[in-house]
Amino acid sequence: MIVSPSLLSCDFANVQRDVEMLNASNADWLHIDVMDGVFVPNISFGLPVVKAIYKHAKKPLDVHLMIANPDPYITSFKEAGAEILTVHYESCTHLHRTIQEIKSQGMKAGVALNPHTSIDLLVDILPMLDVVLIMSVNPGFGGQKFIQSTLNKVKKLKSLIIDLACDTLIEIDGGVNLETGSALAESGADAVVAGSFVFNSDDPKQTISDLKKLN
Ligand code: DX5
Ligand code: ZN
Repeated sequence: MIVSPSLLSCDFANVQRDVEMLNASNADWLHIDVMDGVFVPNISFGLPVVKAIYKHAKKPLDVHLMIANPDPYITSFKEAGAEILTVHYESCTHLHRTIQEIKSQGMKAGVALNPHTSIDLLVDILPMLDVVLIMSVNPGFGGQKFIQSTLNKVKKLKSLIIDLACDTLIEIDGGVNLETGSALAESGADAVVAGSFVFNSDDPKQTISDLKKLN
């Protein structure tokens, strides 16, 4: 399992310390949640904070944009250190163009789907995507409860990926712990994001290692 701990749940007064903890852990990516207070009902942080994280990070930055109009910011996020840039299906009118732009800047491209958005809507662009990020909570906040119907979406996407013979990774975000993570692994997830489960645990590095073992 690819594990991408979400820094949304880190101690913002000690971001460097927490990034260094993740550097020393078995985490694969660092998940960075950017929220604008428009697309989602919360504001997290923006480009200067992503740049500051990048300065200390030794793992790829997996940047999840929960913002209304991502297109004007693609170059800035590349410059800030994003390796994977994920935009929401619901916030892109010309998603194909947005994905082309992300890839032309040398980043891996991801598309996130809100819980109400069907997998079927991705069928025409799936081969272009490096990652599909299935939201298993409504985006905006850490610490929410996992929506069980996500498991069916994962299974459906997995079979679509096999049918189309593409190598898109399935990543899940929201309410992930060892129990939901194990059901996700069984359903075909390749990667999980975990925020509160990692940072609220007594031993975050051990928790990350436990998530790594999911299969
Ligand atoms: C929610 C964010 C998530 C969040 C997950 O909108 O996209 O990445 O950090 O938090 P947990 O793992 O606590 O549900
Ligand atoms: Zn996220």
